[in-house]
Amino acid sequence: MKIQAINGFKDILPDSVVRWQHIEQRARDIFERFGMQEIRMPILEKTELFVRSIGEATDVVEKEMYTFADKGITMRPEATASIMRAFIEHGLHVQQPVQRLYTIGPMFRHERPQKGRLRQFHQLDAEIIGAVEAQVDAELIAMGQMLLDELGLSVSLELNSLGCPVCRPPFKERLVVYLERISTGLCEDCRRRTHTNPLRVLDCKKPTCRELAQDAPSLLEALCPDCDRHFHEVEEALTRLGIGFSRNRFMVRGLDYYTRTTFEFLTTDLGAQAAVGAGGRYDGLIEQLGGPALPGIGFAMGMERIALLLEQQGDAGLPAVGADIFLAALGPETIAPCSLLAHLLRREGVRAAMDYSSRSLKAQLKQANRQNARFTLIVGTDELARQQGTLRNMASQEQRPVDLSGSAAEQCQRLLRVLRA
Ligand code: HAM
Repeated sequence: MKIQAINGFKDILPDSVVRWQHIEQRARDIFERFGMQEIRMPILEKTELFVRSIGEATDVVEKEMYTFADKGITMRPEATASIMRAFIEHGLHVQQPVQRLYTIGPMFRHERPQKGRLRQFHQLDAEIIGAVEAQVDAELIAMGQMLLDELGLSVSLELNSLGCPVCRPPFKERLVVYLERISTGLCEDCRRRTHTNPLRVLDCKKPTCRELAQDAPSLLEALCPDCDRHFHEVEEALTRLGIGFSRNRFMVRGLDYYTRTTFEFLTTDLGAQAAVGAGGRYDGLIEQLGGPALPGIGFAMGMERIALLLEQQGDAGLPAVGADIFLAALGPETIAPCSLLAHLLRREGVRAAMDYSSRSLKAQLKQANRQNARFTLIVGTDELARQQGTLRNMASQEQRPVDLSGSAAEQCQRLLRVLRA
């Protein structure tokens, strides 16, 4: 019986890896422009970490975590909790009051797989810890926008505020009163959520719940003065930076740690999976996990979704990859000198490919094309005897003789001059 990958877990094959590397390179480049440093954490963490940070009454913790119950450990469903754990454990704030950290890697959630939704998926995650200023929120959001812009993706940005421990609890009470009044019209999940996690009712996707939520009280109108000021300052700063956005008072986010600013980068090109990236502030989280009382804000982008969008757009902007030179060795005696030449070229940083099977010229040119080679060096037995080869420019199909006299090192230097011209 053939063994296949698990449902929701996907191989990323060489043709697609080019796209993934491109996304990663753009992300690293842009994150580093914003002074971000990379951090890498383990994939397994104590289950307690996610329960305490993401929240017990969230879908992620209630039903989506891959947990080894007997060992009390879980495969991370997201990166923020792990970064905070590492931040606290290593006292990173002592070295630098404001930490800017990013990580790239796989996350695991037991959701129903569909286009753009996997059980093992990958995130680009960025966090700024220790800064409370609204300008920092705008800077971080601008960084996410810059990445999507430079990848050539068009998204819309939605913004909301979830308030703080001062203004959210009284708002929740008002919301529960409202939800109880309309409870007969709500779906079963929302009726349950009215008491476990009332804010989640606001972003239920079912049409009847959506309609009923239209008249629900708005947290944006119930923010305390500090949260209200913060929200307006974020909006002003975004406008100053030329970042377009719209308010979405129904945006709740599926993780409980958020306070104040929350945001989502949305696309209309991926069907049901509209969120390319999302994030927000989590000012109480570090303290709640036993660390210093430091604020934080961050976002994560789904790499599968970005990769799908790039592919749908015809992979514009992807760097061309391929061999610099393919060495077509056409007889058994030509294999050894060609392989030595390939080795020396590789030592010089050249992407050199070759075939050892002495196949026909036609077959080897076909392979050179498949490997996207810029040049092919054709070396036949007769040519070798004459200390000469033929260099073919694969794009123009122009051919010219090349001198293969002297030592392999000398031949290599001569070829390098042509390749680098
Ligand atoms: P999240 O909204 O759960 O936030 O996920 C962020 C992004 O990860 C989503 O917008 C989506 O692109 C991608 N994503 C989530 N689940 C899946 C899935 N099953 N398959 C494919 N892609 C998925 C967080 O994870 C927060 N930790 C973000 C954050 C960082 N907040 C503050 N700092």
